[in-house]
Amino acid sequence: MCGIVGYIGKQQAYPILIKGLQRLEYRGYDSAGIALINNDKLNVYKAKGKVAELIQFAEQKDIQGTIGIAHTRWATHGEPNQVNAHPHYSQSEELAIIHNGIIENYAVLKEGLKEQGYTFSSETDTEVLIQLIEYVKKTNKVDLSTAVQLALNQVVGAYAIAVIEKSEPDVIVAARKGSPLVVGIGEDEYFLASDATPIIEFTDKVVYIGEEEIVTLRRGMEIKIVTISNIEKTPEINKLEMTLSQLEKGGYPHFMIKEIFEQPKTLSDSMRGRVNVEENNITLSGFIDNKEKFLNAKRIIITACGTSWHAGLIGKYAIEEFARIPVEVEYSSEFRYRKPVIHKDDIVIPISQSGETADTLAAVELAKSQGAFIFGICNVVGASIPRNTDSGCYTHAGPEIGVASTKAFTAQVTVLTMLALIIGKEKGTLSEEQYLKITHQLGLIPEKINHILKQNDSIAQFAKTFTYAQNFIYLGRGYNFPVALEGALKLKEISYIHAEGYPAAEMKHGPIALITQEMPVVVIAPNVGMYEKVVSNIQEIKARKGKIISIVTEGDIVVANLSDYSISIPETEECLVPLLAAIPLQLMAYHIAVVKGCDVDQPRNLAKSVTVE
Ligand code: G6P
Repeated sequence: MCGIVGYIGKQQAYPILIKGLQRLEYRGYDSAGIALINNDKLNVYKAKGKVAELIQFAEQKDIQGTIGIAHTRWATHGEPNQVNAHPHYSQSEELAIIHNGIIENYAVLKEGLKEQGYTFSSETDTEVLIQLIEYVKKTNKVDLSTAVQLALNQVVGAYAIAVIEKSEPDVIVAARKGSPLVVGIGEDEYFLASDATPIIEFTDKVVYIGEEEIVTLRRGMEIKIVTISNIEKTPEINKLEMTLSQLEKGGYPHFMIKEIFEQPKTLSDSMRGRVNVEENNITLSGFIDNKEKFLNAKRIIITACGTSWHAGLIGKYAIEEFARIPVEVEYSSEFRYRKPVIHKDDIVIPISQSGETADTLAAVELAKSQGAFIFGICNVVGASIPRNTDSGCYTHAGPEIGVASTKAFTAQVTVLTMLALIIGKEKGTLSEEQYLKITHQLGLIPEKINHILKQNDSIAQFAKTFTYAQNFIYLGRGYNFPVALEGALKLKEISYIHAEGYPAAEMKHGPIALITQEMPVVVIAPNVGMYEKVVSNIQEIKARKGKIISIVTEGDIVVANLSDYSISIPETEECLVPLLAAIPLQLMAYHIAVVKGCDVDQPRNLAKSVTVE
């Protein structure tokens, strides 16, 4: 959370930094700020709220400078106001810093600095860090990069920081531990950011800064990297694969709806080069390279957060059914702290869209330290989690900007399904006939999603009926229980309506008490799996006058007749239903939120990339 951007070069920094902040706003939008050096002055401008507020505030100022740093905040220490907004000055106002992360020992450091006469204007941990850097710099009489290095040796916590100094208008010093940091290399100019999205329109050459590394960007000089323990590193230049159009709304009113509509393409991209539609065959290089490990695995542990955790649950159903390997699905935040039993022959699969979620990253480190084999499923290429795994599979959904995850979810489910099928086939726990049939059906999913998307207008129409609701229940069984959880999460994230996902049969053990004629109940009821049992569950709701919204297989009139509203999805294999059923639930949540006037792409209090625990 929090997005950081920096620029040093020949262009005016302000427009580059502002555009960069807008690209990174998905990481937090409690406040925004910018610092530039111009004519021997280090100016800081900041505003509470979104980047748009900062632009308004800055409009009245004369903002010049070819070096600058900027920040968009998701508040951790200190409420979201202007004083706590970044950048923060040091006491002398000689230095300014931006920071993404948490300095855990800030209280102790602050006490020490107070004893040295330092005073603090904000409640943030970040201000403590910049005061510490200034103190170290002055007492040791060292340059900025050495001061940053010495100061970071005293710091416990996570950070991606960038620091500038009034008397050094040709240098930005940045560092990272636990939070992401990318440097873009242009011609006589450098960019830095939390991810590559602010950089892509200027250069496709990037260096991913590693853990505990400090990078010095000096005008007209080569990029220099040292670790905090003073080991020099050679920068490794990577080429970005992302395109600019992927980062724009392309005529849609919100990124979320654009991303929902992209799913036929993103799922084809996830399968490209992996699913051979002519031969109904799957090839996953991550599996081939580690075939023995998968075939001999006694257990798989999936670790993830949020929507990725829901995808993991669907993966569990598929892997257990086809590959007959026991799978545990863990919330990363619980797994990392609860002293789990991890064996050397376990395969641990972290799932993460961003590849930066702090808890999932820590879960990976824990599992690695216990000798498990780590196979990552991530979307953002080059992010921290894929860089820390032994092997893995990218989801190739392209940049996801809407805070509520949509296309990343279906891509994760697709990759997990491919993995389950291929292990099952190779192990012999899945018959050749079943393998061919399901793989064939998987190849048809993108076209079937296209078909579902045609119902967008009618979903938008009936969604209006439900803006009154204070609560929703989502029900599903088998593969569709996690879909119910995901549908409920989508609704609560963006429309602020309380929603609960439940296994349909569990309803009788509590939630049924909530059913009144006011309560909308969404039931995922395809004509596969436990269809009849779900029909009985629907009857139970109907008997208590609940409003039923059902997801049914095309042609099903039984459930459709029992429902107040029903949305149909094409027929498919049971394990593939989640890929189709998720789509109307995403659309319904989107339209309810739009009618309610909610900020769909940037829901309150949330951030897309959770780099703090
Ligand atoms: C945040 C996002 C969710 C996401 C979760 C896990 O809560 O808002 O959309 O599912 O983090 O993120 P990851 O990047 O690890 O998938």
